[in-house]
Amino acid sequence: MLQKLVLGFVLICIALIGLGNGQLQSNTVDVTSFGAVGDGKTDDSKAFLKAWAKVCGKKGSQTLQISHDKTFKLQPLVFQGPCKSTTISFQLLGNISAPNKSEWAKDKKEKWIIFNGVKNLIVDGSGVIQGSGSTWWKGKDSRRPTSLTFKSCNNLQLKSITSINSARNHISISSCIGVTISYVTLIAPKDSPNTDGINVSGSSQMNLFDSIIGTGDDCVAINGGCSGINITNVKCGPGHGLSVGSLGKRKTDEDIVEHVYVKNCTFNGTQNGARIKTVPGGTGYAKNILFEDITLINTENPIVIDQHYGCKNDCPLTTSAVEVSNVKFIGFHGSVVKEAAIQLNCSEVKRCNDIVLENISIVPAEEGETLEVVCNNVGGTVQNTIPLVSCLSKP
Ligand SMILES: *[C@@H]1O[C@H](CO)[C@@H](O)[C@H](O)[C@H]1NC(C)=O
Ligand SMILES: *[C@@H]1O[C@H](CO)[C@@H](O)[C@H](O)[C@H]1NC(C)=O
Ligand SMILES: *[C@@H]1O[C@H](CO)[C@@H](O)[C@H](O)[C@H]1NC(C)=O
Ligand SMILES: *[C@@H]1O[C@H](CO)[C@@H](O)[C@H](O)[C@H]1NC(C)=O
Ligand SMILES: *[C@@H]1O[C@H](CO)[C@@H](O)[C@H](O)[C@H]1NC(C)=O
Ligand SMILES: *[C@@H]1O[C@H](CO)[C@@H](O)[C@H](O)[C@H]1NC(C)=O
Ligand SMILES: *[C@@H]1O[C@H](CO)[C@@H](O)[C@H](O)[C@H]1NC(C)=O
Ligand SMILES: *[C@@H]1O[C@H](CO)[C@@H](O)[C@H](O)[C@H]1NC(C)=O
Repeated sequence: MLQKLVLGFVLICIALIGLGNGQLQSNTVDVTSFGAVGDGKTDDSKAFLKAWAKVCGKKGSQTLQISHDKTFKLQPLVFQGPCKSTTISFQLLGNISAPNKSEWAKDKKEKWIIFNGVKNLIVDGSGVIQGSGSTWWKGKDSRRPTSLTFKSCNNLQLKSITSINSARNHISISSCIGVTISYVTLIAPKDSPNTDGINVSGSSQMNLFDSIIGTGDDCVAINGGCSGINITNVKCGPGHGLSVGSLGKRKTDEDIVEHVYVKNCTFNGTQNGARIKTVPGGTGYAKNILFEDITLINTENPIVIDQHYGCKNDCPLTTSAVEVSNVKFIGFHGSVVKEAAIQLNCSEVKRCNDIVLENISIVPAEEGETLEVVCNNVGGTVQNTIPLVSCLSKP
């Protein structure tokens, strides 16, 4: 009797464990079980969308798995939210590749992979996202697709992924609250056009750290509507450096960026280091921005505020400007390859205020060169800088 009871108990336990496993697995969907082939040639977009519909439509915590050792070719597509699931983990174990320009769906040229309105999304994995950049860069058409677009994805996490050779931006983030990006690698050749690493706009509470970004354009571009952006331990280069802006392009709307904190980043062989750029005639402001502990290796223009951005020859006369204030450049060390070490070229209409330069030691990469410091319409304080900065007016 007792034996039977024990046996019964054991059987029930086994059944329960089995059920448990089954449930665990049913929260993970692999794209191949929806017909994705992953031979690098077949268009797997339909299978991906079917798999997405499955994970997006189920409650709880769901995982969409992109199997390893395979390359899935995808035409432009949208992973649309909102989803019933509380979180979706997009587990990129294998590679995803873009069709080249001639194979690209004709009507969808601006964006490749879009996540729209998906809350609590995690994109994670050692897989590589392969843009087809080289087939786009040469042509005159400037409408090239951004590789990954995240729109209205609150509480987003991107981790460990690699993106190479995007046709335009690697990653574009807009209207997202709460973004963590870590251990990502974004790579494109130095001379590839508009291949920004990360372009963020209309977003807040973003943390980017421990990442490598080497492209043909901005490493990170922080556009209008952003606040609370922290960037730490990022290696930039090649590329155009890390920029706030350009702001003020849309004359009707205010462009606002505030509370940006960049710490312990390296600019290796970049055209710029820390840069704020605004277009004359715009409105809004860029304020409370701190660049701290920055290492420069053969950087061209390490510190730039340019309020005359985008003027072809002379800037048109205007009565407004995006206001730049409380910007600190603290602890910049290393070498520059051009003489223009510090350029603070502010607007005649609204001068820059509370600009702080402290503990800066910038030397020419080649001995004997002299460094240039330019200030126009700037007020603030200077302490302990090489080269000497004597052109700021008092605050
Ligand atoms: C994934 O892409 C990387 C980099 O392009 C490559 O080294 C690797 O072999 C690819 N894996 C597969 C399964 O194609
Ligand atoms: C584009 O891809 C197609 C199919 O894979 C191939 O036949 C063609 O040669 C490719 N074109 C370029 C420019 O790479
Ligand atoms: C960056 O994003 C903003 C807003 O989405 C967009 O206007 C701008 O064109 C983007 N920049 C690039 C280089 O794609
Ligand atoms: C950014 O860093 C500041 C200062 O360390 C911190 O107060 C803030 O919470 C951070 N923001 C995010 C989004 O992590
Ligand atoms: C600064 O960033 C580098 C990576 O670029 C990292 O190795 C180092 O540990 C960081 N230093 C601190 C103090 O966090
Ligand atoms: C800077 O970039 C050059 C060229 O890519 C590379 O050889 C060098 O190792 C880099 N230096 C550091 C300190 O990362
Ligand atoms: C500052 O901007 C003005 C207006 O575009 C331009 O003429 C001048 O060359 C700039 N100065 C520097 C040093 O960049
Ligand atoms: C500048 O350097 C000095 C000496 O190392 C240090 O005491 C001070 O805190 C630094 N300033 C800032 C704002 O970090």
